[in-house]
Amino acid sequence: MENRTEEEVSIIKVSSLTCIDLDNSDLHQSAVLLKQACLDSGFFYVINHGISEELKEEAFEQSKKFFALPLEEKMKVLRNEKYRGYAPFHDSLLDPKNQVRGDYKEGFTIGFEGGKDSPHGDKPFHSPNIWPNSDVLPGWRETMEKYYQEALRICKSIARIMALALDLDVDYFNTPEMLGNPIADMVLFHYEGKSDPSKGIYACGAHSDFGMMSLLATDGVMGLQICKDKDVKPQKWEYIPSIKGAYIVNLGDLLERWSNGYFKSTLHRVLGNGQDRYSIPFFLKPSHDCIIECLPTCQSENNLPKYPAIKCSTYISQRYKAAHAHLKQT
Ligand code: OGA
Ligand code: NI
Repeated sequence: MENRTEEEVSIIKVSSLTCIDLDNSDLHQSAVLLKQACLDSGFFYVINHGISEELKEEAFEQSKKFFALPLEEKMKVLRNEKYRGYAPFHDSLLDPKNQVRGDYKEGFTIGFEGGKDSPHGDKPFHSPNIWPNSDVLPGWRETMEKYYQEALRICKSIARIMALALDLDVDYFNTPEMLGNPIADMVLFHYEGKSDPSKGIYACGAHSDFGMMSLLATDGVMGLQICKDKDVKPQKWEYIPSIKGAYIVNLGDLLERWSNGYFKSTLHRVLGNGQDRYSIPFFLKPSHDCIIECLPTCQSENNLPKYPAIKCSTYISQRYKAAHAHLKQT
């Protein structure tokens, strides 16, 4: 035991996170807890969210069925330029400094379709979804659409508590301009293999999420780690266990920027332990034209806005392009 290196010692640590009960009618009490969690680690659990275990399990079962299809079948729904559909292994590379190749994961992305004005509009991140053939996977689309709506509903209720935690009106974010037609993606992931940080092999490289917040469900196979302080060397990584019935929620860079750096988006990664691992994150970002500029409660005479205003879609496009830049090099 004494021979363990610092890296090995640090990665066996399991983190404990704050738990927010979405059924608690005292939103102010939840806001106090949430604020503390956002200042501490940017990660927390939510419980009593209203998604049934049955629906969640069904989504995981259907996801496994999709990834078990022959590659030829999966390639029929290869992701398009709007990132909808199937992304093969190594499609994204999130930590080019430390990774020798892209993530050891394959994914399938389902995005927002329901815009009032332009249901399948020409916006960069809104378009019709791509679906696997219903003869091959009966009921697949229905399950995913149902899960998507539920995940969006939970995110919107967390956004209300988040607004209070930022001293804003409870429905500050829940307006047509902000979360009305959100850029919101549900992604099915399948991880494979054993990661080896010393060789630059990661199931999912270290990154912080791009958007406002992410709602994560996993199949319970350990793998997700967070690094609370990215500037401390050597970095200390702690495992985040999945808890039955709970979702893991984390803040993204867009919220960090919006809150003038007050709420932090935290670095995280996934290490594979050799077992197959499945997860379903749901990434919430505001509407395309929402202007992300310092929130009124996060600035003062002594704390001026640190970032210029930017349109949500511009910011997100830049981040997506960076994560896929390695594909152009080959
Ligand atoms: C991500 C992510 C974690 C997981 O996709 O951004 O951090 O457990 N995923 O899949
Ligand atoms: Ni992430």
